[in-house]
Amino acid sequence: MSSGERRPRSPIGSRSTDVRCRTVKLRRLLPEPGEVTAEEATTGMRLGDLAPPDRPYLVLNMVATLDGRITIDGRSGPIGDDADRELFFGLRTQTDAVMVGAGTIRTERYGRIVRKPERRDKRVAEGLEPDPLAVIVSARLRLPNDLPLLQDEHSTVAVLTASGEELPDCAAQIHYLRGPADIYLELRPLLERLRTEFGVRSILCEGGPSLNESLIRERLVDELFLSVAPKLAGGPPLTILTGDPLPEPLMAELVWLLEHDGHLFGRYRLQDPLQS
Ligand SMILES: NC(=O)c1ccc[n+]([C@@H]2O[C@H](COP(=O)([O-])OP(=O)(O)OC[C@H]3O[C@@H](n4cnc5c(N)ncnc54)[C@H](OP(=O)(O)O)[C@@H]3O)[C@@H](O)[C@H]2O)c1
Repeated sequence: MSSGERRPRSPIGSRSTDVRCRTVKLRRLLPEPGEVTAEEATTGMRLGDLAPPDRPYLVLNMVATLDGRITIDGRSGPIGDDADRELFFGLRTQTDAVMVGAGTIRTERYGRIVRKPERRDKRVAEGLEPDPLAVIVSARLRLPNDLPLLQDEHSTVAVLTASGEELPDCAAQIHYLRGPADIYLELRPLLERLRTEFGVRSILCEGGPSLNESLIRERLVDELFLSVAPKLAGGPPLTILTGDPLPEPLMAELVWLLEHDGHLFGRYRLQDPLQS
């Protein structure tokens, strides 16, 4: 995800297929068979309306290969297709904030989250701010100063960190939400602060697997959007979750299943995240 963009590698997140692929049509396999564009699938989702009173509603978006790998040559770019990319950008028009872990932002070189004016217009039509709040989770605050997102004057970034330090010379507006000094932050209180102090009712999290694991373990993930590409990658077993096994498997309900060129796009609602 350069410009935090899943997924192809291109300068500061530019994506040559970006506009052309907006006409991509997908086959809807579930709930009822039909045809839908990625644009239609990611319009009017009103995810903020689903938020519980004390924290934002959080959806996670990931892409994987058939053998469960989430990178090819260290990046997510080569995994997905045009439909995946269009859904990826479409989801960015649907939430107040876009969250990412430091490992992913370091690897994928995020820039301004919503670069295209027409997508910012769409956000406004959806009742959202033109630019989402970018949320970076980094215990150690080791972020490259030349990261395009940090040097983008249009961007507002909330950094969830255990560090007491500040980033040098950023063009973006930076806010720090600090937790106790540790390599592992408890995220629930910080997400609650995003809700109360920043008015964030919905978050799209774009990974990576360490951040996903923290969020899942704290039962903060309401939905998972998972694209499965029809390819095998092999290599290091980096999957959508790292870390120790969960105390017990977390069940998910399939909300929709879309298909394009053999790529499958599932939307899952996770079991009882609001009850914990
Ligand atoms: N296929 C996909 O959809 C997809 C999506 C995203 C990423 N990826 C891939 O995943 C790889 C990166 O994996 P990763 O596990 O390093 O990524 P990550 O989860 O983005 O980053 C891990 C880092 O995030 C911070 N962090 C996460 N949870 C934390 C917590 N609870 N408390 C404090 N800090 C926390 C820490 O930052 P500090 O180190 O700064 O303390 C940690 O080292 C890349 O190769 C990327 O391409 C793939």
